[in-house]
This record gives sequence, structure tokens and C-alpha cells, in this order.
Amino acid sequence: MEDTGTIRLGNGNFEFPIIEGTLGEKAIDTRALRAKSGCITYDEGYGNTGSCLSKITFINGEKGILKHRGYSIEDLAKNSTFLETAMLIIYGDLPNQENLETFLQKIRSHASIHTSMNGHFDSFPSAAHPMAILSSMLNSLGAYHPEMSTNNREEDLAHFDETAVILISKVRAIAAMTYRMKMGMPFIPPADTSYTSNFLHMMFSEPYNEYVDNHGVGKALDLFLMLHADHEQNCSTSTVRMVASGGANLFASVSAGVSALWGPSHGGANMAVIKMLEEIHASGDDGSKFIEAAKKGEAKLMGFGHRVYKNYDPRAKILGKSSESILGSMGMNDPLLEIARKLEQSALKDDYFINRKLYPNVDFYSGIILKAIGIPVDMFTVMFALGRMPGWIANWKEIAENPKSRIHRPRQIYIGETERSYVPVNKR
Ligand code: SDX
Repeated sequence: MEDTGTIRLGNGNFEFPIIEGTLGEKAIDTRALRAKSGCITYDEGYGNTGSCLSKITFINGEKGILKHRGYSIEDLAKNSTFLETAMLIIYGDLPNQENLETFLQKIRSHASIHTSMNGHFDSFPSAAHPMAILSSMLNSLGAYHPEMSTNNREEDLAHFDETAVILISKVRAIAAMTYRMKMGMPFIPPADTSYTSNFLHMMFSEPYNEYVDNHGVGKALDLFLMLHADHEQNCSTSTVRMVASGGANLFASVSAGVSALWGPSHGGANMAVIKMLEEIHASGDDGSKFIEAAKKGEAKLMGFGHRVYKNYDPRAKILGKSSESILGSMGMNDPLLEIARKLEQSALKDDYFINRKLYPNVDFYSGIILKAIGIPVDMFTVMFALGRMPGWIANWKEIAENPKSRIHRPRQIYIGETERSYVPVNKR
């Protein structure tokens, strides 16, 4: 017998089906609530609202569990790579050797962008924020692939595999070219090498001097990207689904995702964490004063807290270790890491944070890794977007392939003026 739930309202009792996920999550299916009762639900920030049924990623916030298609993030971080995990997230299974090689070859073959897109960078002031450039360049990329950005679901899906490869590969070139443009340096054409080595080459090589990775930077960056690959219905992924639900193509949808990711409460937090650590360091504080300020509500401990994780973000644990090993292999001693460790240890023992279940999230240590690699702070959220691309692509696919998917159009409760008549301006 199907499980049901009853909602008792002034005008009666209303029964609704209970949906249970494969890992035990439960939801009241309220799709008929307004038709049956005339009421809607109100849940600002959607903290208690499921927007979809998805097979891609599972998070248990209470236990700090993150799985992609049933594989734990710890298992993938130990054994997989960014692009292999990207295939898992997008297509649902770990690829066999042949499919993986084909995918890697396609990524290599799409490493550069159309030469006429180089000129787009001239239209941005050098002070333009990299996320503004990235969002517009991704939408522009769709214009170079009109057959993949028709906004006709069937046609766009017919080109999905190639669109996915183009976005994953070319977003990397756009990011590197954005950095080079802002630094006033010439663009470096891609080389025939692995995903992260090619990115580092396009970022840091010179026409006369090839970037050499002597400290496993490429491997650390690959892990960073993998840990950002998808994360259920976060702000930017929900934005991608919202835009996809109206039938928009994948380029337009991920371009919107970049804009949503930019904010300091979301992907912009990795930039805010480094700025916070630098300010603490510059003030001579070891973090203790800052913690007190945060407890008084005078400051926010960026990189801490999460809407879903009420336990340690498993990604933060892995990135914390990775930040130590990359600094170690580079022989670097970053005082910001010591301050971060001190903030973490103090916060984890402090009732203010314990009572609010505030733990380090993915952004807390990621900036230390990016800084050690030499990536400028204003490019940190661009790096988050590079990692999140496969997740956005997979969520767009889940919407586009669902013949029953409907346009996302939330309701509201109106609390404005009730009835007013027009008054001519000379009488106001
Ligand atoms: C990401 O959703 C995802 O999955 C996102 C992400 C992904 O992979 O896509 O995981 C990536 O965006 C991680 C989050 C990055 N953002 C930050 O690190 C910014 C700092 N964190 C906060 O802004 C906040 O914790 C949020 C935005 C992450 C979550 O906000 P919520 O769930 O709306 O929680 P809240 O703001 O209602 O806070 C509850 C309480 C409040 O105190 P009281 O009013 O109860 O006294 O906790 C306090 C808040 O003031 N609080 C903090 C805090 N975060 C929450 N106090 C100090 N420092 C913080 N960081």
C-alpha cells in the first residue's frame, strides 16, 4: 500500500502520497495541494522543498555523506579522476577503458576556441570580473554551435554528447584566456596533454618558456575539480535546471549557472575565505578575535556553514589534507593555512558554531590550494565553475530527457497593496 500523509487545513483533511528515495529520504508529494485545498506551501529559500527527483548526487547532511551515482566522494577522490567522474555524473556509470579513452580524445580535440572568439576578450575592460567574462563567453560559445543551441529539445539532445565535451573542454580555455587577457599577456594555444596540465600550460606557459609542473600541481588541481563536480540542488545547479526547464539550450543554462555561482554565499565564498584569512593575518590576529566577532554577528566565518551539511563537509576534509600536501611538495609555508587550521579548531569547540552546526565547507580550504598553484583570487570562483560544469551538464540532461518535465514556475503569496485607482500626476 502506498504510504500517504494527511495535511489538516481549516477546510478539511487532505491526503497526499509520500515519496521515498532509494536512500530513505521522504517527501510529501504536494503537487495536488492547491487544486485540492486552495493553499500553497511557503518555504523561502526552499530549505524544505524538493524541486525534482534526481539520480545524480545524494547528500546526507546530518552524516556528512556525498555520493555521485552511488559512489562515495571518498572512493572517487582516492581512485578516480575529474574527467572519469565527469562521465559518471553525466552518463550514470563509470566508463570502460574504450569509452574513457574516446572521451579524453574528444576533450583534447576541442581544447581551443574559435579564433574569432579571441576578439571578444578585447570588448571587456581588463578590470572586468572573470565570472562576468565567463558567463558571457559561455553564452557566446553557443552562437558558434547553432546546431547545438536551437532551443528545440530534440535537436539539442541529438547533439548532447558533443555539446558536453565542448563545454567541459572549452570552459578551460576561456578561463585561461580570461586570466591572460587581464594580465595583458598573449594567449597560449593548447597543447596535446591532460586536462589539468593543458589548463596550467594555457595559464602559465610563455611563448618562450613552457610551464613545468614539478610538484604534482596538475594532480592536486584534478582532485580540486573532481570535488566540485556536482552537489545536488545547490543554488547554481537549481538555476541551471530552472533555465533548462523553459527549454533553453545547454550553453545558455550553464551561463546562468555561472552567474548564480558568483555570489559570496555560494561559489564566491572561496574568494571571500582568502580575503578573510588575509585580513586576519594582516591584523596580527591569530583568528581568536575574528571568532569572537563572528559570534557577535559582526563577521561571517566564510567557508563555514552549509544549508545541507550539519556535519563536516566531506570535501573540506579532503581539501584540507590536499592543501597541506601541495604546500609541502612546493616547500611553501602559507601562514593563511595556519590561521585556517586555528579557526577550524576554535570553531569546532565553540558552542556558537556547535549549536548552529557550522562546519568547514568545500570553500574553506580550496582557496589555499588555488593560491599555492598561483591562481589569482578573482579567478577562484571560475575554478569552481570549471569543476561544476559536469554537474550542471548532467542536471540539464536530466531535465531535457524527461518528457514530463514542466517549466519551473514557483507560486508566491502577495502581501502588497490591495486596491488603488490611478491619480493624475498633477494631483499626487
Ligand atoms: C557552497 O548548496 C550547496 O551545495 C553549495 C555548495 C556546492 O557545492 O554547490 O556546497 C558550495 O556554496 C558552500 C557554502 C559557501 N558559503 C559560505 O561559506 C558563506 C558563509 N556561509 C553562510 O553564508 C551560510 O552558512 C550559508 C549561506 C552557507 C548557509 O546559510 P543558511 O543555511 O541560510 O543558514 P543561515 O544563514 O540561516 O544561518 C543559520 C545561523 C544564523 O545564526 P542565527 O541567526 O541562528 O543566530 O548560523 C549563522 C547565521 O548567522 N551562520 C553563521 C555562518 N553561517 C551561518 N555565522 C557565522 N559564520 C558563518 N559562516
